[in-house]
Amino acid sequence: MLYRTYRPTTWSEVVGQEHVVRTLQGALAVDRIAHAYLFAGPRGTGKTTMGRLFAKAINCTAKSGKPCGKCDSCVAIDEGRSMDLIEIDAASNRTIEDMRALKESVGASPTSSKFKVYLIDEAHMITKDAFNAFLKVLEEPPAHVVFILATTEASKIIPTVLSRVQRFDFKKPTQQQIIAKLTTIIGQEKLKVSDGALAALASAADGAFRDAEVMLTKLASHAGKAAIDEAAVQSVLGLVPLSWYPRLLAALVARDRAGALRFLQEVQTQGADADHFAKGFLEYLRQVMVAKIDKTILEQAGLAMADTQAAQLLEFAATMEGAQLVKAIQVFTEARAKIRTSPIAFFPLELAALELATA
Ligand SMILES: Nc1ncnc2c1ncn2[C@@H]1O[C@H](COP(=O)(O)OP(=O)(O)O)[C@@H](O)[C@H]1O
Ligand SMILES: [Mg+2]
Ligand SMILES: [Zn+2]
Repeated sequence: MLYRTYRPTTWSEVVGQEHVVRTLQGALAVDRIAHAYLFAGPRGTGKTTMGRLFAKAINCTAKSGKPCGKCDSCVAIDEGRSMDLIEIDAASNRTIEDMRALKESVGASPTSSKFKVYLIDEAHMITKDAFNAFLKVLEEPPAHVVFILATTEASKIIPTVLSRVQRFDFKKPTQQQIIAKLTTIIGQEKLKVSDGALAALASAADGAFRDAEVMLTKLASHAGKAAIDEAAVQSVLGLVPLSWYPRLLAALVARDRAGALRFLQEVQTQGADADHFAKGFLEYLRQVMVAKIDKTILEQAGLAMADTQAAQLLEFAATMEGAQLVKAIQVFTEARAKIRTSPIAFFPLELAALELATA
């Protein structure tokens, strides 16, 4: 799996999350390490990665403020065999008994490092009673212990715990940031991936580096030495190519009813899911609308788009009326809501297309 191979092992490989990296580095520089942290944020954004990096940095014998990657401690953590980095999955260790056992083990000194780091994943799964059993150690752990709680659902962490940890919120990366990471991997693996395919991956990953890397792994093993293009993304992952949306919009704008229906038929034949397609088309309409108001908004959002697709989008934004766009968004939103109860999934979309192409 590429995501294991390409998990960042140094600060500089972490994409985005600058606020977290900077603050942790700052704490290291002045040797002011808190005894409990909370890493909160969506999945696949680097919480576990950052936890391991921080564990490496505070135990690195090179003491340069960043993990050297060469000392015994760094190597042991990189190889996943350090006795002093204890990773616990709270999803399966969430009871009072589990927390009592944890409390017991906390007292023992580190095996070979300065700090013993407990990285507790999915911390929101720990039951309230179990957390209460654990509060005292969390508040005043032995000097050699650092807790890092990671969670995708910070709102489920009880306030008494929240008030005892230093919290960092991990942000979803932009599509551009995902592309930056994928580009590194593509270079090192010597893969050939088209801009369109890359954009489709970044869009489908929905802010999770891991998802993007897992999809790329699948494509790479499927493609062998061949180039990965949008067609491969569609056939291997079942993702709708981003270039399909402007094709439908072009037919609607040209009032080409036959063209629109023929196109939707083709989308069905390719095996695309109607709801997935409708959602993607609405997202595209939204982008055109936003670009019409101010295209820098899209640039700042870090959207990924092949150059030709960007040019086409701006063309729609320049030529379509605002009211026409709003109408299209309304009609397709209603159509999407009807897909689930429709005898033929694409039927509401065809009706919507006819309505717009006739208007
Ligand atoms: N900020 C990031 N920069 C670069 N790669 C990342 C980043 N976040 C996640 N990844 C990639 O995704 C994979 C999963 O990340 P992980 O830290 O386990 O996510 P989380 O714990 O937030 O679910 C990593 O192995 C790495 O390849
Ligand atoms: Mg994780
Ligand atoms: Zn080191």
